[in-house]
Amino acid sequence: MTELTQLIYASRPFGFDEAMLNGILMEARRNNPRDSITGALICRADLYLQLLEGPPAAVEAAFDRIARDNRHLEVRRCFSTPVTERLFPDWAMRDDPARSWMWTPNEIDDGAIETATPADLLAVFARLAAEPG
Ligand SMILES: Cc1cc2nc3c(=O)[nH]c(=O)nc-3n(C[C@H](O)[C@H](O)[C@H](O)COP(=O)(O)O)c2cc1C
Repeated sequence: MTELTQLIYASRPFGFDEAMLNGILMEARRNNPRDSITGALICRADLYLQLLEGPPAAVEAAFDRIARDNRHLEVRRCFSTPVTERLFPDWAMRDDPARSWMWTPNEIDDGAIETATPADLLAVFARLAAEPG
């Protein structure tokens, strides 16, 4: 079986607007199928939280490119872990507005992502994956 990894990082959008988000999603949806990457991007003016999943080398290469992108700041790698199954097998990159059941802007400001455990973060994406996109 092909090796699979999931990587989650968080960052702060720089100049967040719809046009910028659409540009990012266009690039993701062009590159990710080529790289066998799938995943989801949670977006709000104060937060990007992205899950990338695919072959380990491809995920690392995508994250390296993304981390250098000047459309966001304070890129923090939360964790990566080997997995046996994808959470978003049908999505080159699903996009979701941050939901009310996630964190409030105040909680984000107070460091909710930094104190979240890998299980907490995965649970957010697992819940999303269970909802229609
Ligand atoms: C929040 C965010 C998420 C991104 N997600 C992806 C992604 O999933 N895949 C990807 O290839 N590029 C993604 N990008 C864009 C990369 O940073 C980079 O611009 C792009 O991969 C370069 O593509 P190119 O080599 O085709 O020019 C993202 C950028 C940002 C700011």
